[in-house]
Amino acid sequence: MNAPHASKALLSVAGVTVRFGGLTAIDNVSFDVYPGELLGLIGPNGAGKTTMLRAITGVVRATQGDVALEGDTLNGLPIHKRIQKGLSLSQQLVKPFREISVLDNVALAAGAERTRSPLKALMHVSQHDEVAIGRRMLERVGIAAHAEQKPGIQPLGILKRLEMARALALGPKLLLLDEPLAGLNSKEARALADTIGDINKQGVTIILIEHNLGEVMRICQRLVVLDNGRKIASGEPRSVMNDAAVRAAYLGGDTLADAQPQQPVEGGRHA
Ligand SMILES: Nc1ncnc2c1ncn2[C@@H]1O[C@H](COP(=O)(O)OP(=O)(O)O)[C@@H](O)[C@H]1O
Ligand SMILES: [Mg+2]
Repeated sequence: MNAPHASKALLSVAGVTVRFGGLTAIDNVSFDVYPGELLGLIGPNGAGKTTMLRAITGVVRATQGDVALEGDTLNGLPIHKRIQKGLSLSQQLVKPFREISVLDNVALAAGAERTRSPLKALMHVSQHDEVAIGRRMLERVGIAAHAEQKPGIQPLGILKRLEMARALALGPKLLLLDEPLAGLNSKEARALADTIGDINKQGVTIILIEHNLGEVMRICQRLVVLDNGRKIASGEPRSVMNDAAVRAAYLGGDTLADAQPQQPVEGGRHA
């Protein structure tokens, strides 16, 4: 396991502020994400988590501050350029094309990945390959058996995995997940959290926004906590959960009691 900060940051968020009119949704927040990490971004409702993901992907523009991927600034780049550079956002609301199959939904996303690479386009990677990529992604998220079905009749748990397969088909360096476990029962949530952990172990760096703190504690290696737009804590999950400011932020809101500590991680890297 790496010593703290032994590797260069994959994503660097430095002094980012996002204002909507008079409201400061993100207030001078800085954090880094290291290659191979599964970083939990948590905080009460309205803390600014979704806005932070949107600022990273370019859906909203930061009023101030810098976002950099592998040392290259993303400031000023539109969403599609940020996707080309390796970001992939899986949204809170799942919106597949309902009239085509689960597999075709993922193949379409894989096709979008192809057109972003001039080299691959030149090599005329066939639609057949896109379907093959689609099948691989469905296997990775555990819904290969649903490939030929229409999304319209699938339960939420399957749709969430489909959304994740579409995001993975882009071949991201950094996968951004916004509350993937919301709306699932505890058994489904645990299974999907396991899948997210597996995807991370296969080498995909992930930022996970999630209210289910038990699962966050179980699968994340490090946490960043936002409250009222400010970063109030970061570090190894157990110490973050014991932080007085974090406990105060969650009082009356989400249940810290649900959060079970995960197995200790070696060295608490990058804390
Ligand atoms: N597009 C927007 N326009 C105005 N205010 C917004 C917009 N998006 C988010 N906000 C506000 O910014 C704050 C942070 O919201 P959000 O990032 O969605 O929080 P979280 O995801 O942590 O629940 C909230 O007060 C919210 O109402
Ligand atoms: Mg949100």
